[in-house]
Amino acid sequence: MELNRRTLLAGAAAAGVTAALSSTAHATGGNRPVKSLFGKLADGTKVYRWSLENGGTRLKVLSYGGIVQSLEIPDRRGRYTNVSLGFDNIEDYVSSSPYFGALIGRYGNRIGKGRFTLDGKTYQLSVNDGENSLHGGAKGFDKVVWDVEPFTRGSDVGLHLHYTSVDGEMGYPGTLRTKVTYTLTRHGDWRIDYEATTDKATVVNLTNHVYWNLAGESSGTIYDHELSIAGSRYTPVDSGLIPTGELAKVAGTPFDFRRTKTVGEDIRVPHQQLLYGKGIDHNWVLDKGGTDRPQWVATLRDPSSGRTLKIATTEPGLQFYSGNFLDGTLVGTGGSVYRQGDGLCLETQHFPDSPNHPSFPSTTLRPGQTYRTTTVHSFSA
Ligand code: BGC
Repeated sequence: MELNRRTLLAGAAAAGVTAALSSTAHATGGNRPVKSLFGKLADGTKVYRWSLENGGTRLKVLSYGGIVQSLEIPDRRGRYTNVSLGFDNIEDYVSSSPYFGALIGRYGNRIGKGRFTLDGKTYQLSVNDGENSLHGGAKGFDKVVWDVEPFTRGSDVGLHLHYTSVDGEMGYPGTLRTKVTYTLTRHGDWRIDYEATTDKATVVNLTNHVYWNLAGESSGTIYDHELSIAGSRYTPVDSGLIPTGELAKVAGTPFDFRRTKTVGEDIRVPHQQLLYGKGIDHNWVLDKGGTDRPQWVATLRDPSSGRTLKIATTEPGLQFYSGNFLDGTLVGTGGSVYRQGDGLCLETQHFPDSPNHPSFPSTTLRPGQTYRTTTVHSFSA
């Protein structure tokens, strides 16, 4: 992961970002992941929680949805807190989770009217967000039980998560064999490698839906977090949050995060796109996106604790969602109620509704091809 750290540094310098990189890279070497029972689904299926620790990062992952149930990192004084929103019980994840910490598939974000045409054939997907399909439909990858296999490899520790989605599941063509690898490196980076193959032409767009609050979940809103995104354009949406197809410049709009600013700085500007999203809920076109090696794309920092998250990815897009639909009806892991803006998501992905926009980077996967993307989360304080 040294390489990634260097890539991140180079990217940060190029973008004029001055936040210092890790002063907390403890090279401890990790232990084998530990498994415990977290709960049971209504049909009796056991859900396990895997605990991993390496390089100063503590990660807890559920076999249900591949959910990051807790992610603890230290502040500048070495004090740990859980920086990922979630629940302390399986029942709430099953009944009411807005995708807290979950793996998202087969398709991250929306497909308009849940419909697309591939090789002349039109497919109707499960519709679960008004007239649209969101995050894979009614039962996406966030709501299935994954086969989890722990590993240690040199100084890395991690989990391989496997799920096979059958032909026609949620309306998608092809049997999709999916493997997601969560790795904690000796520097405490959390790396995600996604892989998938299919036996029929299909579309695929996998991501992860952690809601970050670097001051700690249940600590209030993220509006004072400082954010930079290396994207000069974004994909404006209609009132149903489906991209219009335009790649609009962020310059002169509330969507300009090319230089670091707080999340709250422009969030109340009366811009039509912010009204549609009830805040920020948009896909950035990453300037260095769509590469073979992860590139630095975003930095999030909580000034009060010093905790800093840097994201590198091979993906062309980044969905920044400012937790707009959290509405005071859910009680989080720490026992307090989550309200609007109590967490934010930075989802590395292909653009929403790409199957209906031939000009967007393609999300088509064909038999014989392997879908491969990587995202690295690097922490410091
Ligand atoms: C989407 C939001 C949606 C949220 C669900 C985000 O990825 O962009 O529109 O409400 O997921 O929690």
